[in-house]
Amino acid sequence: MQVWTVANQKGGVGKTTSAVTLGGYAAQAGKRVLLVDLDAQGSMSCYFGLKPQSLRQSSAELMNHEGPISRELIKDIVVELPYEGLSLLPSSPSLITLERTSQNKRGFGLILGQVLSLLEEDFDLVLIDCPPALGVLMINALVASTRLIIPVQAEFLSLQGFARMQQTVDMVQHSLDTVIDRVVVPTMVDRRTQACQQTVRSLRNEFPVDLWPGHIPIDTKLRDASRLGVPANLYQPAAKGVQAYGALFRYLEQRISSQRSVSSEDELYASADNATKAYWAEAV
Ligand SMILES: Nc1ncnc2c1ncn2[C@@H]1O[C@H](COP(=O)(O)OP(=O)(O)O)[C@@H](O)[C@H]1O
Ligand SMILES: [Mg+2]
Repeated sequence: MQVWTVANQKGGVGKTTSAVTLGGYAAQAGKRVLLVDLDAQGSMSCYFGLKPQSLRQSSAELMNHEGPISRELIKDIVVELPYEGLSLLPSSPSLITLERTSQNKRGFGLILGQVLSLLEEDFDLVLIDCPPALGVLMINALVASTRLIIPVQAEFLSLQGFARMQQTVDMVQHSLDTVIDRVVVPTMVDRRTQACQQTVRSLRNEFPVDLWPGHIPIDTKLRDASRLGVPANLYQPAAKGVQAYGALFRYLEQRISSQRSVSSEDELYASADNATKAYWAEAV
């Protein structure tokens, strides 16, 4: 099972769209895909017509569960979507509270990884949609992941705050003594604008290895797909923006990613807790 996290601490850069559309392509390719909504706003859950505020159970209850978590409990919360191969672990607004209250809980950063490791046999690919914040939820996602996909809106100043996110990634990598494969994806590209060209150029300078050589253009079909609650590849496969996600999916499949599992006894991570707590508190 591979786990890919889609994250950027900025909102509105195409995280949810990327996670859903890549998931749609993976399911179409025959993979069993679990979409994980870690954003308290629940835009991924809303995408598929679920109402996070009225869900009985969500990713929040799972992560806050007292005692051992069973595979049955997780499967009870996971929703099968009406598209072959696609399931969803929905979110709820209580993720906000979790983000605030669990910062100092020892080992909390490992919970999502432990939950997902119980689903090893059930899914081929997990795609995690992160909230736009550098907090414990993002840490949980990173710890559980083999790959980080960073959508960057190709507009002026969109690189602000990037260094701090990088620090978080470095911290997790260091704590777990691993390398998370990182792929930067320019989104909402309008090639006619100078600011856009400039951003793509500076991304190329800054991330020569991690930058996906393609880009996702602005395409209203992606927005329409989200309004209708259909993965864009099933709704308008020929649209330019949708095809660009297809190309990104094929690129990601071919790119070799590091494989790793999370253990509950991860002393390395625990020892990094103190050094990073202050940083989280400030960053959240
Ligand atoms: N390439 C694109 N072209 C046009 N609109 C897009 C594109 N990608 C995303 N959108 C729209 O932009 C808005 C923000 O995208 P979203 O994926 O929700 O961002 P995030 O999850 O980072 O907040 C949504 O309304 C979405 O439908
Ligand atoms: Mg989102």
